[in-house]
Amino acid sequence: MRSPPGGLGPRSVCCWIRLVLCSLLLPIPPLGLAIEDGLLNNGDFETPPPRGFPVFNNIGGVVGDTTVPGWTTNGTVELVESDQKQGGMILIVPQGAHAVRLGNDAQVQQELGTLEGGATYALTFCAARTCAMLESLNVSATPSAVTAASTVDLQTVYSVEGWDAYAWAFQAAGGDDAGATTVAFKNPGMEDDPSCGPVIDNIAIKKLFEGPWMFPNATLGVLFPTNFAEETSALPGWIVESDRAVRYIDSYHFSVPQGKRAVELLSGKEGIISQMVETTPGKQYSLSFALGSAGDSCQLPMAVMAFAGDQAQNVHYSPTGNLTYQSSSLNFTATAERSRVAFYSVYYNTRSDDRSSLCGPVVDDVRVLSLSGGATSSGRPVSVQLLVALALLVASI
Ligand SMILES: *[C@@H]1O[C@H](CO)[C@@H](O)[C@H](O)[C@H]1NC(C)=O
Ligand SMILES: *[C@@H]1O[C@H](CO)[C@@H](O)[C@H](O)[C@H]1NC(C)=O
Ligand SMILES: *[C@@H]1O[C@H](CO)[C@@H](O)[C@H](O)[C@H]1NC(C)=O
Ligand SMILES: *[C@@H]1O[C@H](CO)[C@@H](O)[C@H](O)[C@H]1NC(C)=O
Ligand SMILES: *[C@@H]1O[C@H](CO)[C@@H](O)[C@H](O)[C@H]1NC(C)=O
Repeated sequence: MRSPPGGLGPRSVCCWIRLVLCSLLLPIPPLGLAIEDGLLNNGDFETPPPRGFPVFNNIGGVVGDTTVPGWTTNGTVELVESDQKQGGMILIVPQGAHAVRLGNDAQVQQELGTLEGGATYALTFCAARTCAMLESLNVSATPSAVTAASTVDLQTVYSVEGWDAYAWAFQAAGGDDAGATTVAFKNPGMEDDPSCGPVIDNIAIKKLFEGPWMFPNATLGVLFPTNFAEETSALPGWIVESDRAVRYIDSYHFSVPQGKRAVELLSGKEGIISQMVETTPGKQYSLSFALGSAGDSCQLPMAVMAFAGDQAQNVHYSPTGNLTYQSSSLNFTATAERSRVAFYSVYYNTRSDDRSSLCGPVVDDVRVLSLSGGATSSGRPVSVQLLVALALLVASI
């Protein structure tokens, strides 16, 4: 509607007042600098220390500056170089020329700019282990809304490159606890050989909307380590229930059935994703999903085990023609107010080109639709709660 010409009509004055009121009601912006998506300060460890990168003499000796710009360290934290050898082995540096290695009980931490209270953030980082033994990383964020500390197991190396990218999520503290958050990476291990310990590199952050930060070169995708039901998930809506990780892939580097992102199931039934959806007991539902190939030379056969309520079905990947995915569905009758939907890969697949990188079937476009409610007099095909769950399901992968 147009306001009368030649000045502010009563309506536009009203709007103007409302606008002023609205801006008064807007939350006061926090004083600190809001954090931007992307690499943390010296998140790639390529910033030289004030007196230059340490020099290694290949018999374990170090000459030079051992501080790590941008980070606070505790314990034996070393800046390592891409051609650095140790015990005859070349150390793996995921990106660029430098990374850090965490010795026994050693830690690096960084205070982040202001986070939005209550919002969920995901850290993406690359990690490799240095010795052929159990190594892990304790990733934490403090303060946070719920205790945010997880141990990421580095025992399984998923790609032939010897390192993997991981995403880990936490919910920023709100209220009185809001403010600067410190993220820390700690090697909880106590090895006999103090020069063992994980190497970490390329640490980035992203406020979580659909998924975590992915580097433009995310040719290996990003792994989601195990997360338990009560923890914040880097894949909104989903739980990685199992011991092993699943891989988040994008359409720039992989084949993805729908949209830009999907999940590739790795390591057989040790890599399970699940979600609880609201259902009405006694009603019939259909779980539908796209089952695809990531286009990463994964050796056939591929299949998933799909679970919905009390139903389970083994679905083989056998697309028609030149398609790289197929649509599959599974009907179930709900027996409770919440039904579990889950997937795992039936086989342990590896790539045909290197025979050691783990790969598997891709799951995407997961939906749960009510079959029995469609023609009811209420005219509501799906319960509202289910729609919310559905939106999550569709938006997240
Ligand atoms: C450094 O780590 C040790 C061992 O975990 C711990 O006892 C000490 O409090 C830490 N120091 C700082 C400054 O965080
Ligand atoms: C991980 O770190 C957090 C915070 O420093 C600590 O509370 C937690 O106990 C640690 N967990 C392990 C397994 O070391
Ligand atoms: C991506 O990777 C290639 C090969 O490893 C490298 O040459 C290139 O600089 C990388 N690009 C970015 C943006 O990291
Ligand atoms: C798949 O095959 C159809 C018909 O043979 C063709 O029109 C289409 O371009 C092909 N698509 C791809 C991605 O090769
Ligand atoms: C699921 O149920 C619908 C409606 O009863 C039916 O048309 C469809 O064929 C069923 N799908 C499967 C996979 O059994």
